[in-house]
Amino acid sequence: MLAHEARGASLAGKPRHGVRAARGGRGARLRATPTRRVAASAKTKYGLDDVSYAELSMADLVVGAAVQGSAPLPVGVPGKNASLMEMLPFLFKLVGQDRRLWLRFAAAIGAVVISKACSLASPLLFKQAVDALAIGGAGVPALGLKTAVSALLLAGALTSVGSVANELRSVLFTPVAQAAGRRVSMRTFEHVLQLDPAFHLDRSTGAMSRVLDRGARATATIFRAVLFTFVPTAVEFVLVCWLLARTVSWQLAGAVVATFATYIAYTIALTQRSVEIRKEVNRLDNLVSGKTVDALLNVDTVTTFTNEAIEGRAVNLLQRQFAEASVRAEYAQATLNGGQGVIVCLGLAAVLCIAAIKCAQGQATPGDVVLVNGLMLQLWAPLSFLGWFYRNLRQAMVDMENLFAILRERPTLRSGTLPLPAAATSGAGVELRDVHFRYRDSIPVLRGVDLIAKPGESVAIVGPSGSGKSTLTKLLLRQYDAESGSVRVDGLDVTQVAPHALREAVG
Ligand SMILES: Nc1ncnc2c1ncn2[C@@H]1O[C@H](COP(=O)(O)OP(=O)(O)OP(=O)(O)O)[C@@H](O)[C@H]1O
Ligand SMILES: [Mg+2]
Repeated sequence: MLAHEARGASLAGKPRHGVRAARGGRGARLRATPTRRVAASAKTKYGLDDVSYAELSMADLVVGAAVQGSAPLPVGVPGKNASLMEMLPFLFKLVGQDRRLWLRFAAAIGAVVISKACSLASPLLFKQAVDALAIGGAGVPALGLKTAVSALLLAGALTSVGSVANELRSVLFTPVAQAAGRRVSMRTFEHVLQLDPAFHLDRSTGAMSRVLDRGARATATIFRAVLFTFVPTAVEFVLVCWLLARTVSWQLAGAVVATFATYIAYTIALTQRSVEIRKEVNRLDNLVSGKTVDALLNVDTVTTFTNEAIEGRAVNLLQRQFAEASVRAEYAQATLNGGQGVIVCLGLAAVLCIAAIKCAQGQATPGDVVLVNGLMLQLWAPLSFLGWFYRNLRQAMVDMENLFAILRERPTLRSGTLPLPAAATSGAGVELRDVHFRYRDSIPVLRGVDLIAKPGESVAIVGPSGSGKSTLTKLLLRQYDAESGSVRVDGLDVTQVAPHALREAVG
């Protein structure tokens, strides 16, 4: 075998330990394969046998973007500290590709409207029943009793319809939420795969997988909180206030607004504090997971250097910090829940007292007091969940932000678009000219490497460990770019070739 030293290739500090290239007869082979159609392969690629092609349409776009590297992202990724108004359109676009999902979505919204309408009608019917009974005092006339019984029966029927509609809403929405979460995580996963090795070296695998996992769940939470909790509650609130002002007095509506405003202000103030603690809990959780997974993945290195105790201490310290932060989060949550309970109870008592006074003054009927009580209970029921949903929403937004930060990462290598020359099928020529390279922040690894391998020729790269042999391959496959000099395959600079085509062609 004929061997020659590739000129100038050296590891810094060891100039004589150059990389050597040995030539032989048969080709260092590059095999050009046709680029696979992304849409056709997506199904098997993700093992998504339960997903229709229509459902995959956005995923395909995403995969397409990932495979081609430089293709623009299909939808704009919200920026740092993105508001809900920026996140929602992004999530809607992800769901919006499939008409069947939209239909389910619309049906779920319809179920919410029916359920809310039924629950608001019940207190009105109770009022009617009590007023009908109150007219006749102790000996209720037959007509009053008939009215009361019909109203109570109708209220019962409407309440049942409302509960069924509410369950229907969950059934209809769950597949939509799952599809949205799956698309978000598929998109991020594909995006992560196309990022430079440098990105992955800077991050721990365990922490990254946590971010992906939480992001997918956060998608469903955001939809649920906004579309099925906040918006319906806001509409219900306006309707209740309007009903109270119209049927009893505006003072009652005013008391409800004041209680509601106090509740919301308190919830937002305390939630902001607990979100900060939650961020810290998340960060520590990521660190614990990252440290544990990294130690397990590199268990041979850990044991070779007898670092078991050091790794154990590091994980233990992080776990202790995580536990302390979790306790702080628990305290913050208890303060929030307790305060919310007090505000709701005091507000309800005040509103009922006003109703009772109006009744005593003859400005309201006993039925009105029942109506006020019914409407208040109706309103406070979602209100107690509202705090919980708000906290979850904030948490989900934090998780989404982490996910978006990954989605905004762009590959630092500008991808070429050209296919490999057809001749590369039977063996391509490889040419390196005055190639210099160093890994980020490290000493130079390659210093002025020249190497020519003609088509069909076998070339062995020889050199001591750490001299840069694997690095040469990485430059050839465009995992990194040379600092200076050129790397060519069949005369075509690798920066011009689509990286995917280049990597697929290597046998
Ligand atoms: N991702 C990286 N980040 C920073 N430095 C790196 C990275 N990968 C390799 N290096 C350094 O670059 C130099 C060349 O490494 P390379 O893996 O190319 O050597 P090699 O010749 O393939 O060694 P071996 O024969 O052991 O496989 C070494 O000093 C190595 O420590
Ligand atoms: Mg190597």
